[in-house]
Amino acid sequence: MPKIFIMPSILAADMGRLAEECRRAEAAGADALHVDIMDGHFVPNLSMGPDVVKMARAAVKIPLDTHLMVTHPQHLTGAFIKAGANPLLIHVEAQCDVRAVLQDIRQQGVKPGLTLNPETPVESVFPYLADVDEVLFMSVHPGFGGQSFIPQVLPKIAALRRRAPDLDLSIDGGINRATTITAAEHGVNMFVAGTYLFGAADMKAEIAHMRAVIQNSYSKKI
Ligand code: DX5
Ligand code: ZN
Repeated sequence: MPKIFIMPSILAADMGRLAEECRRAEAAGADALHVDIMDGHFVPNLSMGPDVVKMARAAVKIPLDTHLMVTHPQHLTGAFIKAGANPLLIHVEAQCDVRAVLQDIRQQGVKPGLTLNPETPVESVFPYLADVDEVLFMSVHPGFGGQSFIPQVLPKIAALRRRAPDLDLSIDGGINRATTITAAEHGVNMFVAGTYLFGAADMKAEIAHMRAVIQNSYSKKI
């Protein structure tokens, strides 16, 4: 089984205390932070830029799983890598030479990742599996935290897990106690959670609970 990663999404953190929130998540047992970058064009929201990644890089030691929800990632990867983004994920739906951007990220010593939206067929990432270290499945329509989980993405995940038993498969959107189980059952080993974890009374307890249920449920339904 690939290593379990639990990755709080700082989009849901208290923006007035962001460095403190990053440290709180690390202290609570997070394996990485998920950083949502939005350009207001690929998705109808504008979120944060390289300086927030730079701040998080200085605040914590854990990886920064940086999710570029941008139309033209080829113009932005350099700035985010310089700021400390790693892994760095682009969308397969972006307007770029996907393979060239993924290979450029890897050549700069950063783990490349590919993300697909709920309605995008899983076959769209098959040509790039040798170029990535992570495939991120959106289980909400990207742009905002706090949305409801879209279960129709689960068969896509199971199909890729059967094809790539050792690849890091992550899921992003609407993850909570219940959806963690079903996502793990379908082969997910990396879990992004924003509202659930930053809204929890005890983030450390919730992360520990997630880890236990993932271990018990992993790939039971692939
Ligand atoms: C949505 C982002 C997600 C979001 C997850 O576009 O990519 O990472 O922050 O938030 P929750 O866990 O609240 O659905
Ligand atoms: Zn995200």
